[in-house]
Amino acid sequence: MDLMQALKQRYTTKAYDAEKRIPEDVVAKLKDALRLSPSSINSQPWHFLIADTAEGKARIAKSAHGGFAYNAPKITDASHVFVLCARTKLTPEYVDVVLDQEQADGRFASGAEREGREKSCKGYVALHEQLGNTAAWAQNQTYISLGFLLLAAGELGIDATPIEGFDKAVLTEEFKLAGQDLAPAVVVSLGYHAETDFNAGLPKSRLPESAVFSSI
Ligand SMILES: Cc1cc2nc3c(=O)[nH]c(=O)nc-3n(C[C@H](O)[C@H](O)[C@H](O)COP(=O)(O)O)c2cc1C
Repeated sequence: MDLMQALKQRYTTKAYDAEKRIPEDVVAKLKDALRLSPSSINSQPWHFLIADTAEGKARIAKSAHGGFAYNAPKITDASHVFVLCARTKLTPEYVDVVLDQEQADGRFASGAEREGREKSCKGYVALHEQLGNTAAWAQNQTYISLGFLLLAAGELGIDATPIEGFDKAVLTEEFKLAGQDLAPAVVVSLGYHAETDFNAGLPKSRLPESAVFSSI
């Protein structure tokens, strides 16, 4: 699908056809979209939980309770549900893991190049530590991956629902995320919309260009 067409056609699905499943080769592309997302200093400060069984989706749906209950069927009826988690800490050891990967991928022509990059990356990590916003910084990067996932889904003809309406404490406990230095950022349901999806036929609504752009 053409990029502009995908941007215009994708929309937030409100009801899923529980019988339809995303083929595995398409799921692989959705995973690629997440993994290939850009992030500050290539920190990739995320981890993604993927549920494609009724049991896995039910565990995620536990977090859609109380005022969030309206989101539960979007989780249980979707084909796949991704939980986008952000790191709460970026340790020097973690930065070394990223640098090791960059080295293995052939990004450094010399030891000096790696050293320079290490200094720069650890400088940014230290800066955010000092500012006390490491977790928020990591969450910002994770939301970029949300954008990539939603766009990829649109392009692949997969319906999607980004969901912030869930109880983060419940998911943190259910998947023991705190002990892994992770925090849930956003849940994304993916699949195929049901006939009953009231949002499928509604026009897209956005503020006009004049409200969101200024030429300077
Ligand atoms: C970060 C984020 C969180 C959202 N959370 C929910 C949610 O909990 N439940 C829901 O039905 N829609 C949710 N939405 C969907 C938005 O309401 C929707 O994206 C917006 O109205 C624009 O419409 P469109 O996605 O159909 O273009 C969320 C969207 C984003 C980007």
